Amino acid sequence: MIIIDGKATAAQIKQEIATEVETLISAGKKRPHLAAILVGHDGGSETYVKNKMLACEACGFKSSLIRFDTDVTEDTLLEQVARLNNDDDVDGFIVQLPLPKHISEQRITEAIDFRKDVDGFHPINVGRLSIGLPCYVSATPKGIFELLRRYNIPTSGKHCVIIGRSNIVGKPMASLMIQKELGDATVTIVHSHTQNLKEECRRADILIAALGRPNFVTADMVKEGAIIIDVGMNRNAEGKLCGDVDYEDVFPVASAITPVPGGVGAVTTTILAKHVVEAADKADE
Ligand code: GUN
Repeated sequence: MIIIDGKATAAQIKQEIATEVETLISAGKKRPHLAAILVGHDGGSETYVKNKMLACEACGFKSSLIRFDTDVTEDTLLEQVARLNNDDDVDGFIVQLPLPKHISEQRITEAIDFRKDVDGFHPINVGRLSIGLPCYVSATPKGIFELLRRYNIPTSGKHCVIIGRSNIVGKPMASLMIQKELGDATVTIVHSHTQNLKEECRRADILIAALGRPNFVTADMVKEGAIIIDVGMNRNAEGKLCGDVDYEDVFPVASAITPVPGGVGAVTTTILAKHVVEAADKADE
């Protein structure tokens, strides 16, 4: 039984990034720089952005946080995005989601220069991913892919079932896993309207739960020896952090599993930092 350690993997990736930064600096390039736009004061978004900034600072990057009040207009945000697109000192930037209802997330995302879209949300990056071209990939699915690779978990020809069809996790995860040069797996996405969801999950060699429901995946949905990847970050009835997988129940059936916390969530900010150093490396090409 393997417990997939996201914290240890993140530490390893951070070391690799530090080496890359040293190489950039000794080649006379500037320090990588991530900017983040944060609108309003939602506690969850504040924490996420703070962790992203800290991860970048830990890797020796420059980071800038640009804040707006909740009543900011879409035009003001679009102007800020344009400024960051044109700022040669900024290698990559993110606009933390969700945005207030009066602002179109799609319009803002599409305004970001795809070469600086280190979140991988721009339709050009999403499209490039779907046809196997180099691009920025959303951090959570990319982090899962890194975990599978670094734990030498074979994916080629395996049946991968993904629970959840979000644009940020489910769909890009499917693109990574289906690509011949990448996951090379057989992929099924199941969702809230799937018939026989349990049976579909039980067919998985690799089961990825990304639906956002506490302890949704139970042992009766898991094939003996399956690899279990838990993307969930939920609070249970007692307010305790838990995943989409009932860990205690599933543990005896699985051959490998990601814990919550300390699994998938632990690598995502590091993947973002990896994207920023890649952007800095390409900056003056
Ligand atoms: N909101 C939830 N996850 C994310 C993310 O990965 N990037 C951004 N920009 N917003 C988010």
